[in-house]
Amino acid sequence: MSDAPTSEDQVSPSPAAAVPEGAVPGARKDALPRFAAHAAHRQALLDRLEDGEGVLIFAAPHHYRNGDAEYGYRQSSDLLYLTGWPDPEAALLLRKGAEQPCVLFVQPRDPERETWTGRRHGPEGAVEVFGADAAWPWDELATQLPALLLGLHTLHYRFAEEPENDRLVAGAIQRARRLARRNHLDVPDAFIDPLRLLHELRLVKSDEELAVMQRAADITAEAHTAAMAATAPGKMEYELEAVYLHTFRRRGGAGPGYICIVGGGANATILHYVTNDAPLRDGDLVCVDAGCEVDGYTADVTRTWPVSGRFSEAQRALYQLVLDAELAAIDRCRVGATFADVHDEAKRVLTAGLVRLGFLGDDPAEADDAELIDTLVADEAYKPWYMHGTSHWLGLDVHDVGSYNRAGQSRPLVPGMVLTVEPGLYISPDDERAPARFRGIGIRIEDDVCVTDGAPRVLTAAIPKTMADIEALMADARA
Ligand code: GLY
Ligand code: MN
Ligand code: MN
Repeated sequence: MSDAPTSEDQVSPSPAAAVPEGAVPGARKDALPRFAAHAAHRQALLDRLEDGEGVLIFAAPHHYRNGDAEYGYRQSSDLLYLTGWPDPEAALLLRKGAEQPCVLFVQPRDPERETWTGRRHGPEGAVEVFGADAAWPWDELATQLPALLLGLHTLHYRFAEEPENDRLVAGAIQRARRLARRNHLDVPDAFIDPLRLLHELRLVKSDEELAVMQRAADITAEAHTAAMAATAPGKMEYELEAVYLHTFRRRGGAGPGYICIVGGGANATILHYVTNDAPLRDGDLVCVDAGCEVDGYTADVTRTWPVSGRFSEAQRALYQLVLDAELAAIDRCRVGATFADVHDEAKRVLTAGLVRLGFLGDDPAEADDAELIDTLVADEAYKPWYMHGTSHWLGLDVHDVGSYNRAGQSRPLVPGMVLTVEPGLYISPDDERAPARFRGIGIRIEDDVCVTDGAPRVLTAAIPKTMADIEALMADARA
């Protein structure tokens, strides 16, 4: 058996769509700040690699919804973060120490296909607009990747996510090994999930990312305010949903970053209620969890308000408790606290309030007994009515990436992290453990909070949330 390379192993050493003549690689990055931010993300990732390490990230696949109709395409958040590339059938290879560290494979220009499915940037655009050092048509990935992997000893690639990608990568490694016998270059023999490095980067947002997230928050604020103003008994939940969809698109957002939850009355006690097809009844609350996506970044905001425009006494008592818990938890979003401290704060305020309102304990005055509250929190006595976490990271994904723990401990908050704060209370209509007057009420209040060097910055602060502000807004809208 011979080790000599076969004709199949002859790969072209230079890209089909290299930097156009006369152009300086990356020359337009400064002219296009949007893609300069992505170039900075790539550089930050490269800075964390050693020479001979590479990172390979594929585009998200596209899926059919039914028959010939596709779901709207959404790029993988990792590829979006590193390139801003919007289309399917693409892959990014970063190579630390290589002459051309950033290589993209993308759909080629194709006038016939573009007539059917829209304009493409092609490999030319990948270089000129998106700042790649070299780019090839997607169809050439299997041919070109083996040679591009030569010289790398470590490949950061996430196996076992997309079988088709795994097949391509395994084939490329196999061919690269054969090539390496001839020229004695390294071939990756260590494979690492890139997510640990990449997701840590994504967790801490840059000023550019925060500006985009603020835009998503501002559009979401306009939608929540408009929905409060549009609420009236007899309207359908989907009519409020339509206010969000309309506002998100009218203001240039991509649409909702997750399916809108619009729950009137007891529907608000179903955490992921998305049917949104019931009438809103006088005397009920309506709870809406909706956030706009802008350039891939989503807001995630919940407000709860009275269909009639006025909170009842029972609703008022529960609402103020959730609001107190939310404000106290937001105030914990500071350097010096951990992620878990934020949840602990919300649990403590809610638990004391549940004692005061007759859900727990024998006497409302026990709400001031700190030792008893400690015990009730440790026993998770609040769980029948507060069954979810208070926070999650927020960014390109609504439940964004980045670990919550370090060495088994909740991680400390640092400036640039963005998290939601979203306590709630959910009392089923048939919950016999709860005082009767509270049954059938669901309340959540959720804001998006950025940790800074000083006070927490609430990106969604413009959306009314005190009862006085909500009632005033609704009264104004009716007048
Ligand atoms: N909208 C999903 C969540 O609040 O986590
Ligand atoms: Mn939410
Ligand atoms: Mn959330």
